[in-house]
Parts: sequence; structure tokens; C-alpha cells
Amino acid sequence: MIRQTDLTVNFAGIKLKNPVLTASGTFGYGHEVSDLISLSKLGGIITKTITLHPNNGNAQPRLYETDYGILNSIGLQNIGLESFIQNHLQKLYKIGVPIIVSIAGQATNEYIKIAKILSEHSIISAIELNLSCPNLQKNIICSDLSMLQSIVYNVKNVLNIPVIAKLSPLNADITKPAFIAQEAGADALTIANTYPAMAIDIDTYKPKLSTIKGGLSGPCIKPITLRCVYDVYKKSNIKIPIIGCGGISNGSDVIEFILAGATAVSIGSVSLNSPSNLITIIDETYNILKRKNISSITDLIGQIKS
Ligand SMILES: Cc1cc2nc3c(=O)[nH]c(=O)nc-3n(C[C@H](O)[C@H](O)[C@H](O)COP(=O)(O)O)c2cc1C
Repeated sequence: MIRQTDLTVNFAGIKLKNPVLTASGTFGYGHEVSDLISLSKLGGIITKTITLHPNNGNAQPRLYETDYGILNSIGLQNIGLESFIQNHLQKLYKIGVPIIVSIAGQATNEYIKIAKILSEHSIISAIELNLSCPNLQKNIICSDLSMLQSIVYNVKNVLNIPVIAKLSPLNADITKPAFIAQEAGADALTIANTYPAMAIDIDTYKPKLSTIKGGLSGPCIKPITLRCVYDVYKKSNIKIPIIGCGGISNGSDVIEFILAGATAVSIGSVSLNSPSNLITIIDETYNILKRKNISSITDLIGQIKS
């Protein structure tokens, strides 16, 4: 019997028409490519990380394509919260898919301040807390689990929409920050961000990035992040849903992340080449399910046989 193929997922109470989201920072503010692709086909949009004040980010060069993946040290360059709200929020809302705003602060108070301001805008579906940027001078949040706990707890207190904690993959046991985030009130997790890495020019002997080290992303990180998602999902005391994020480049990768325990995925580097790759990936995911005669993608969540 041929069955209907359904890509819909319920993610922390948000209905996504498919599990494919844009990864923060790789899709601008989220609407700029509306002439190039049909943004309403996406499962949802996660914006570039927004900070309280405008931020120029790190000095150039801050992006370098290695033979294996992309190195970036953008350093959270963005126009700041006020300008984001004035110039981008309505445009995002008009796309008609769930909008998840990624935020970061220098300290807990700054996260709370941003969250309070955003709480006045009912068109936002969820907040993603960037607790994991490897490209900042003061990158304490990756390693300071009490700070992570405090940010999640306090932000959750001022919002009545889901809070997603985006974790660094760097903790030797990623289930620890995942559990702390859950207990502090996070409604979901994004696993994970980029991996510290570097490249050197062998003619000038200079690093390829102004900051020497940056974050590595793209297909080369997929197996490592997939393992992180699996570890967190299989830890039975972590119940909140997961966005798998790392190196996804086709429909088969999406299915792997779902089998490992993700409910949704966010995709970055491959959309830098062409934003239309996201739509191709959604179509590929659909075709895999159809070929396998699987009626709903939710039937595959965490179904790895081990
Ligand atoms: C150019 C670039 C900018 C990024 N900026 C952000 C950002 O602002 N906030 C964030 O949480 N992650 C940021 N990331 C990380 C991505 O959201 C994603 O976690 C990472 O690239 C892994 O996914 P991918 O392999 O599909 O790219 C950035 C990545 C790249 C390549």
C-alpha cells in the first residue's frame, strides 16, 4: 500500500512543516535571499545571532574555505537588537514560517535584557541561546556550566515561548551541559556549533584567519556532531527535543540525524554555496521517506538500532 509521506514535526510545541531549519549566522537575518528561493518551503528560520549592541565582529580575513570544510571567525558581527527589530523582524514574519531568534550576550544580564525586549514581539516562535560561539575573546560560556545554567534559567523566566540552548560540542561529555540546560528549563537543545580549528598559508607562514583560530563547519564535522546527538538522545534522563546541527549536506544526512535522535536539523555551510541547497535537501528527505514507504518522519526519531 502506498502511504502519504509527512515531513511535519512537532518541535517543542512548534509545528514545523518539515524538520529543516537554517543554521544561525549562515543565512543572514533570514529573508535576504527571498528572490532566490521560496523561503516559505523551509521548516523554519533561525536568525544570525543578535547581540544587544551592534557588533563589527573580528577583523578580516574571517572566512576561509579549506579542502575539508569552512573556517570562520566572524565573531558575531551583527547590527544589534534595536536595528534587527526595526528592519528585519516584520520581513521575517511575512515569510510565514516559524522564526527563531538567536541571541548572545557578554553575561547573563545581557541575555536577560535581550530576551525581555524580544518577549514584547509575539511573532517570534522561539529563542535560541547561542552558548557556544568559539570565536569570541571572552568565550567563557562553553566551559562555565554554572553560567550556562544561570543564563538558561533566567532567560526562561522572562519568556513564554520555547527556549533552545545551543551547545558547544567541546565538553568532553556533551550530556553534562545538555542535562544542565534541560534542568534549568530549556525546552530544546541545538547540538552543536563549530569546532576550533586553523589553517596556515605556507607561502607567507601566516594563519589564514586574523584570529589565528576559528570554527570549522561543513560536511567534515558531520560524523562528530552526529555522535554528540546520539550521546545526548540516548541518555535517558534528557527528554527535550534536539536540533541536530553540523555538516548536513543532503537528505540522507537529515535522516541519519533523525535516527540518532534529532527531531529537527539546522543547516549552515552548504547553504552558503547556494541557499537553494536547503530546498533540495528537503526534497531529498521527502523522496527517501517516500521510497521507503515511511508515512511520517517522526516515526524515525531515535530509531537507530543498537
Ligand atoms: C559563516 C558562519 C557564521 C556563523 N555564525 C553563527 C552565529 O551567528 N551564531 C551561531 O549560533 N552559530 C553560527 N555559526 C555556526 C552555525 O550555525 C552551525 O552551528 C555550524 O556552522 C555547523 O553547521 P554546518 O556544518 O551545517 O555549517 C556560523 C557558522 C558559519 C559557517
